[in-house]
Amino acid sequence: MIDNLQLNAEGRLKHFLSIEGLPKSLLTEILDIAESFVGIGDHQIKKVPLLRGKTIVNLFFENSTRTRTTFELAAKRLSADVLSMSISTSSTSKGESLLDTIRNLEAMFVDMFVVRHAISGAAHFIAQQTAPHISVINAGDGQHAHPTQAMLDMFTIRQIKKDFSTIRVAIIGDILHSRVARSQIQALNTLGAAEVRVIAPKTLLPAHVESLGVNVSHNLTEGLKDIDVIIMLRLQKERMTSALLPSESEYFKCFGLTEAKLKLAKPDAIVMHPGPINRGVEIDSKVADGPQSVILKQVSNGIAIRMAIMALAMQKQGIN
Ligand code: CP
Repeated sequence: MIDNLQLNAEGRLKHFLSIEGLPKSLLTEILDIAESFVGIGDHQIKKVPLLRGKTIVNLFFENSTRTRTTFELAAKRLSADVLSMSISTSSTSKGESLLDTIRNLEAMFVDMFVVRHAISGAAHFIAQQTAPHISVINAGDGQHAHPTQAMLDMFTIRQIKKDFSTIRVAIIGDILHSRVARSQIQALNTLGAAEVRVIAPKTLLPAHVESLGVNVSHNLTEGLKDIDVIIMLRLQKERMTSALLPSESEYFKCFGLTEAKLKLAKPDAIVMHPGPINRGVEIDSKVADGPQSVILKQVSNGIAIRMAIMALAMQKQGIN
């Protein structure tokens, strides 16, 4: 259902809601277009005219540092007009429904909504309800998906490791509550990674996790063997409805990435984290700030990948 909504009759990207159902060729096209945007940050004038005259509305119903700012920067670098709604000061706080908010913004002739929402399926719902010329980009919905985060992670991995078919990737931590992990697993499998391994305590894994196309380990020391890419996840306490762990210090002892544990992966393994990081809970500061960490490179790449996705989604109706 989601994939049909995402593509127009010609198979071009219309909405970007989930990695699920998108073909490898489209994911590769996004990565290739992002490559062409990377250098723009170094230009004296950090802008291209691709989305001149288009209006993009950032609708963040949930907190964000990286996603919101890089979407805003990406839209500005494409020369779009950008409106970043502050939901806490909008009429949502007076009881206006999501649909009424969308209808009112539509009446202001907008071209794209970038949506973050705590409810899974919110971006999909908006995409179903909006006028046909409007694109919707999912900036994270509940525990469901965070597809632009997954794509900036794929971009960072490709920049460094070049070939997905030779890499083994470990995703470590709170897989159960992670929309990022779901989207990363789908993207890595679509792009043909040699192995996707999840490493977590049983309480932080979804039921039947193997059906997502991953190998499973409950032991970090054993699980890091032969790994090229390590993706650490934070404990998403805001989504936990019961106590799933004895304590944070116990968790760090078993599943926290330290310099000693990092040595168990391949010597040239890279360390990634979508952020926000919780130092001393899932990752030691020496690793987060160490030479194998590419965490801030991921943030920088978020601008180019979001430029690529917004430009592609607008192409379905012809840009300039
Ligand atoms: N990775 C990520 O989504 O970070 P923010 O919540 O800060 O946007």
